[in-house]
Amino acid sequence: QAPDGRQALQLTTAERNMVLGEMRDFLVAVQAIIAATNTEDMAAAAAAARKVGMAAQTAVPPALIGKLPLAFKKLGFAAHSQFDQLALDAEQLGDPLQTREQLAALMNNCVACHATYSLVVAD
Ligand code: HEC
Repeated sequence: QAPDGRQALQLTTAERNMVLGEMRDFLVAVQAIIAATNTEDMAAAAAAARKVGMAAQTAVPPALIGKLPLAFKKLGFAAHSQFDQLALDAEQLGDPLQTREQLAALMNNCVACHATYSLVVAD
């Protein structure tokens, strides 16, 4: 249990830095997708979403995977795969409103995970 009541995941400094780096990539993608839909540049929205799709997840070391609870992995998996779906639909449907609706829906994964977990260093 973390001091703020959330579930504390105990990671090494390097593991925590890796997860937080992935998080900042998520934030970059969200900003880029909103900006791209505002200018109706659906190719740019798709490109930004793909950078944080399933392909971005492959480099996670097995030791780190082993420390993450199943519910955490499911939320992470859902976020990555929904960015891929958003990218596909942005290209194929080209509808900025639809893309923003998908972004709002997939960000429920961000909200749910942040409400539940915190990362604590245990080197
Ligand atoms: C599977 C769980 C999970 C998902 C999904 C998730 N996050 Fe996070 N995120 C975390 C955790 C845990 C932290 C660290 C929180 C803490 O220790 O207080 C974090 C931290 C962050 C940070 C801070 C990074 C830093 O350098 O300190 C940002 C920004 C962030 N998340 C953005 C996002 C965005 C945007 C999404 C959705 C697109 C997202 N996250 C989805 C678990 C998740």
